[in-house]
Amino acid sequence: MSSTVFDLDAWSSIQLDRVELALKGWVSVTATATTVHRAPDDLVAAMRYAVLDGGKRLRPLLVLAAWEAVRHPLSGHFPQGEGGNDEAALRAACSVELIHAYSLVHDDLPCMDNDVLRRGKPTVHVKFGEARALLAGDALQALAFELLTPDEGMSVQQQAHLCRLLARAAGSAGMAGGQAIDLASVGVALNESQLRQMHRLKTGALLQASVLMGAACGTASSQALTALKSYGGAIGLAFQVVDDILDVTADSATLGKTPGKDADQGKPTYVSLLGLERANAYAQKLLEQALTALAQGDLPNPQALQGLAEMVVNRTS
Ligand code: IPE
Ligand code: IPE
Ligand code: MG
Ligand code: MG
Ligand code: MG
Repeated sequence: MSSTVFDLDAWSSIQLDRVELALKGWVSVTATATTVHRAPDDLVAAMRYAVLDGGKRLRPLLVLAAWEAVRHPLSGHFPQGEGGNDEAALRAACSVELIHAYSLVHDDLPCMDNDVLRRGKPTVHVKFGEARALLAGDALQALAFELLTPDEGMSVQQQAHLCRLLARAAGSAGMAGGQAIDLASVGVALNESQLRQMHRLKTGALLQASVLMGAACGTASSQALTALKSYGGAIGLAFQVVDDILDVTADSATLGKTPGKDADQGKPTYVSLLGLERANAYAQKLLEQALTALAQGDLPNPQALQGLAEMVVNRTS
């Protein structure tokens, strides 16, 4: 094999270590304490339990891969810790993971999917009670935006742009809106376009935003941005199609969550609509769409995004 072949595992492992370390530092009592206020230890314990030591961290990887994709090779040597774009990308990566972790805490609550297992552990409300789980979710969401607005190292324009991308993807026209459609659709046979819309909002929006936020930490042409938007849309939808498939085909030990929930709870999914075989074929078609879009972006460094698209569709957990 040529030495120029991109090693996704090696790249991911470096990024995952950086993200884990950063999250550990930011989701802590000391990071958010002021001279006047200090967060209650038990609330921060629930937040840390929800965020640390678990999950695939796909969204942070997408942020960092998109940043890498738009970065010209010669500009790739920012010293760490100098507050340049590298720092912005790491903050953006962690902020999306915080929103995602909060969405999982709330998704698992008894008033939503009523799940007891997440990332191989009892869910946050099982461990800490419903009220604290609710508040941990709220606080994680707020912390995500705090991360995007540091005193130094990012221009106010960049901060505002990143906050807007994240807010839109998390809010009523994004994740929260999709979750509302999900709850309203129990026992309802959605048609393909309704199901696609639900999945694009509840899951796709945050994945697409991850890609766009990564690009916003660098400089991207309008051609690149168009390509990245299509890429993010396709893998965002593919991700939830595969989540629907794994709910039927994977076991609890592999998934780290309870399988078979969708059918039990009467949720419309790509498997209930198309059956397993066609749902799988659809995920592969979305992968092709994502890769085709990416190739049209004329990006300096698209390899990590290519690899992550394949991982999204061919994953087993
Ligand atoms: C699960 O997301 C929830 C969905 C949006 C389908 P992930 O499968 O990315 O969960 P973690 O982060 O790896 O636990
Ligand atoms: C969740 O979709 C999407 C979110 C916004 C959290 P699911 O309800 O299918 O996710 P899992 O299967 O519980 O992880
Ligand atoms: Mg759900
Ligand atoms: Mg769920
Ligand atoms: Mg699911």
